Amino acid sequence: MRILFVGDVYGKTGREMVDHYLPKLKSYYKPGVTIVNGENAAHGKGITQKIYKGLMSAGADAVTLGNHTWDNKEIFEFIDDAKHMVRPANYPQGLPGKGMTFLNKNGIEIAVINLQGRTFLPAIDCPFQTADKLIDEARKRTSFIFVDFHAETTSEKLAMGWYLDGRVSAVVGTHTHVPTADERILDNGTAYLTDVGMTGPYDGIIGVEREAVIRRFKTALPVRFESQKGRGQLSAVIIDIAPSSGKATAIKRRLINDDHPFYD
Ligand SMILES: [Fe+2]
Repeated sequence: MRILFVGDVYGKTGREMVDHYLPKLKSYYKPGVTIVNGENAAHGKGITQKIYKGLMSAGADAVTLGNHTWDNKEIFEFIDDAKHMVRPANYPQGLPGKGMTFLNKNGIEIAVINLQGRTFLPAIDCPFQTADKLIDEARKRTSFIFVDFHAETTSEKLAMGWYLDGRVSAVVGTHTHVPTADERILDNGTAYLTDVGMTGPYDGIIGVEREAVIRRFKTALPVRFESQKGRGQLSAVIIDIAPSSGKATAIKRRLINDDHPFYD
């Protein structure tokens, strides 16, 4: 079983990169399951129903979210109808949406879980304890479990990776928009990568127009952020999982931009 995961799709540039490269990546890597983080897909903030459907028709089987889940008011109208969209499971109980979904591909069931870190992010419920509960529930049905941990700090993500090692097939980080180079299989068979990186503007600052970000750092004044125009990039990871055990056997990063072109 192979999983292809595409990191934080940011704005129109990110969506165009998905439309252009996801079919090529799928035909090259032939994943059984494709998962896309879409929390920044609508102008960098949140997601709309149209964009969710667009990501699904571009080839995603499931969409994960993060701290921008609630930015676009439209989310409240469609989140409960979006069967394969997950938002961080550790938001307070009673909010709409869900933090885990099950996909069924070629007779194999895969649980997709979304969690959010609490360091430099809103103080929501404990992601570690929430993970325990969801994994207990998922393991009654399947040993194929994929976790997108949307968090700011490398240490919180590493802690989650080691905490879940052996209980899930993969823990991959999202949110920082900058890919890390630490992909590995942990001791008990969990594939791990601290951050997959962003799919969006290549020449901005984590997707945002760079002059605005520099101005904010220099002046500390409020500055309106727009997406950087121009060239795009796509960040992804490919994970192989043994069908017999649900444990990972390989993990590979994939970055596509003008400095790392895609050759098929
Ligand atoms: Fe985020």
